[in-house]
Amino acid sequence: MADSTGTEAPLPIQCQRLFGKVALVTGGASGIGESIVRLFHKQGAKVCVADIQDDLGQQICRSLGGESSICFVHCDVSLEDDVSRSVDFAVDKFGTLDVIVNNAGLSGPAVPDIRDFELSVFEKILDVNVKGVFLGMKHAARVMIPLGKGSIVSISSVASAIAGIGPHSYTASKHAVLGLTQNVAAELGKHGIRVNCVGPYAVATPLALAHLPEDERTEEAWEGFRAFAARNANLQGVELTARDVANAVLFLASDEARYVSGVNLMVDGGFSCVNHSLRVFRG
Ligand SMILES: NC(=O)c1ccc[n+]([C@@H]2O[C@H](COP(=O)([O-])OP(=O)(O)OC[C@H]3O[C@@H](n4cnc5c(N)ncnc54)[C@H](O)[C@@H]3O)[C@@H](O)[C@H]2O)c1
Repeated sequence: MADSTGTEAPLPIQCQRLFGKVALVTGGASGIGESIVRLFHKQGAKVCVADIQDDLGQQICRSLGGESSICFVHCDVSLEDDVSRSVDFAVDKFGTLDVIVNNAGLSGPAVPDIRDFELSVFEKILDVNVKGVFLGMKHAARVMIPLGKGSIVSISSVASAIAGIGPHSYTASKHAVLGLTQNVAAELGKHGIRVNCVGPYAVATPLALAHLPEDERTEEAWEGFRAFAARNANLQGVELTARDVANAVLFLASDEARYVSGVNLMVDGGFSCVNHSLRVFRG
């Protein structure tokens, strides 16, 4: 996915909000994760991209240039050895770990009847979306606790706060991301480590297309998705982009958020605080 701001070059040092920081971004090869990687790099961070899509991940690294500030590691976040090795890889490569972004996620198929919902499908989504986040937090904490500082940011969703808009496994997993975030924030505060999550509304990425109702999966699926998202959004006249989500993650990763911990920062234009069944204010 192209970065919407055009220019990719790192900003002048005095303007960089992540100058001198080292970040690991899971699921950084596509969609929101790619946008986070590009923005963090632009803001002066050394970034390690961790994903199962090796070609895409390496392509992003090449497009950002120098090996001294960007690298790729193959990592399946549902496997503890992979996550542990990726954290160690980032530390070996860049000397430390200041930020981890637990972004990798799956949405899974929309199954309209729970009686047809295969347990194996449910478990696969929780393996990536919950176990993956837990493992990221655990192994980041292993490095950050001795340092007495760090920022852990995970990607939740509007589905962490509102029901009926995604598959059961997805909603359960995103509620769990919020629960984990707050529980781990409670534990790690004494070590100076902040733990937060970011909850986006719909962004046109490969994952999001799986949420489209069957009859909206047209050949122009991307356009169809955008129209679907715009029609159902609370905030009108603005399209949510991956960069908007990345900007929220940047804030939480940076020292500007140095006293912010345990929050679920919704990037949803108010979607999750509205009761959509009443539609009192809809024209
Ligand atoms: N797109 C949206 O509308 C939306 C809304 C709310 C939340 N989110 C969340 O944002 C995050 C990113 O999603 P996206 O929309 O950019 O999707 P995406 O499909 O574009 O990107 C997901 C990335 O995660 C990687 N990934 C999947 N399984 C993995 C695994 N086991 N190990 C490592 N990497 C793995 C994929 O290879 C891919 O690069 C997810 O956690 C998702 O739930 C997305």
